[in-house]
Amino acid sequence: MTSQKSSWRQAAVYQIYPWSFNEDEGRQPQKGHGSIKGIAEKIPYLREEVGIDAIWLSPFYPSPMKDGGYDISDLKDVHPDLGTIDDFDELVRVAHHHGVKLMADFVPNHTSDQHEWFQKSRKRDGYEDWYIWHPGHVDENGERQVPNNWASVFSMPNRQARDRGEMPWLHHDEWTPPVSQWEWDDERQEYYLHSFAKEQPDLNWSNPFVREAMKDAMRFWLDHGVDGFRVDAVNHIGKNMKLPNEEVNTAYNEQWNENPYDQLLRYNSADYPEALHSYIWEMAQVLKDEKYEDRDLRMVLEAYVGESELRDMDAIAPGVASTFNFGRFYIDWSASHQKIQIDYYYSRLQKTAVGNQVNGNHDKTRVATRLGEDFARTAAIMNLFLPGMRFIYNGEELNLRDAKIPYERLQDPYGGRDPERTPMIWDTDMPNGGFSNVAPEDLWLPVNEEDLDRSVASQRAQPKSTLSLFREALKLCHKLDAVQRGSYVSMHTDNDNVLAYSRRTDDDTVVVLTNFTRETQHVKVFDTDFVIAESILSSNNVREDLGRVDIRSGITLEPAEALVIIPA
Ligand code: NOJ
Repeated sequence: MTSQKSSWRQAAVYQIYPWSFNEDEGRQPQKGHGSIKGIAEKIPYLREEVGIDAIWLSPFYPSPMKDGGYDISDLKDVHPDLGTIDDFDELVRVAHHHGVKLMADFVPNHTSDQHEWFQKSRKRDGYEDWYIWHPGHVDENGERQVPNNWASVFSMPNRQARDRGEMPWLHHDEWTPPVSQWEWDDERQEYYLHSFAKEQPDLNWSNPFVREAMKDAMRFWLDHGVDGFRVDAVNHIGKNMKLPNEEVNTAYNEQWNENPYDQLLRYNSADYPEALHSYIWEMAQVLKDEKYEDRDLRMVLEAYVGESELRDMDAIAPGVASTFNFGRFYIDWSASHQKIQIDYYYSRLQKTAVGNQVNGNHDKTRVATRLGEDFARTAAIMNLFLPGMRFIYNGEELNLRDAKIPYERLQDPYGGRDPERTPMIWDTDMPNGGFSNVAPEDLWLPVNEEDLDRSVASQRAQPKSTLSLFREALKLCHKLDAVQRGSYVSMHTDNDNVLAYSRRTDDDTVVVLTNFTRETQHVKVFDTDFVIAESILSSNNVREDLGRVDIRSGITLEPAEALVIIPA
């Protein structure tokens, strides 16, 4: 299927964090975390009450859970605590039956250290070059030193240790050292490389057997019916295997850059185009295989890199693969700055590419906490009407916030991402918000008590709730041809606090106006082919009869309001 016709072009994609979504009631005894069957039970909710078109499942594979499931010990199975392969097949069946596509998280860069490949590799029992091993260097004092200065992404624990007073030898003006990517292995008597936690050794993508095994894992899930992949940390698979040191990032300043990892530039340890581009291309060929020609497959690549690197990756296989568009996370919440990023993004995307918009995920402070609950609704409407795949992180439709988690209940080794990963809240009046029936202290992460009254059950009948807002917005998105097929047209107004864009086909137009302030704004819109407009949706007030306005003489936007209008 060509991507021009692909149903991913305007798909609302809902990210599910399986451990925190829903535990099916049938599971006895209950375990205190989500299950695959629990996800299947909620597909009708997602389709009918939210209006989503696809789900992305964060890792559900066997894992020692040293990194929230991103440390996979078997790429071709389901974590026994979440369910079975049969449960997974049934989930795919239920999803497809409801017209919902399913994207699986695919983690190419590393496995768990418990994976059979690594266990054998460290014993030199086959798989010798499947990971990146090095004996290190012996210095003038006869001491063994790591092969180079490459730093682990998970270097925050050093910063936290220093804050706890555990690095007294550092002078006050010295930076906190990052965690090395190299870990000594007593068994093999060599160092192995890990871009993330030490329990997540990096696979050696320069080894063709590794590449074949990973593509084989992709095929395994495609044959189980998945419609594509969210590809984890893809930029890390491309490394300079000569292993040169990284240069120091002279722009690093510990006050502004949180993570000691950012002290080094990244030209070799990741983002190395000579290797990376061809590996992405190879993965894309799996989706393009003749065998799957009747399927509508896609992958979305996760890479926290600069715009020019993203542009290059997006040009590798635009028909099936595009990178996540995270650019707006790094820009302040102002109409003019956000507009520059949005305009640039759509202008640089190739015609055959499918773009995307994101307000949050399992690695980021929830949008309601980051921007505030009012602006979270504004940001939702702004994103939902833009072209491409619109990602919704589970709980965003309820305006859930980050939770405060007691130290002794933290799960994330990296140290900061549990607050956005707490359980979904289904019913205010049920134990643990209807998520699971265990005693609260046995939940894998606590329910955010402060959000208990934001449950699905309490919001579904309230016309002004965030859930109703998502439902109405996605209904409109499905109904309006300009949203389904229209191009993105950036617009000018007389008010710098308002961002305006439209979606246009030859016959239809939809305009979205967003007030980026908490004050009332008056705005005139000039470059439309109509003057009298009808307001069809407001982020503040979910009603369809919002009235008629003259857009040349001006529209009044309420504080933090996003307003959707069409020609009257
Ligand atoms: C990105 C994932 O989103 C994150 O949760 C994980 O820790 C790293 N990749 C490593 O897999």
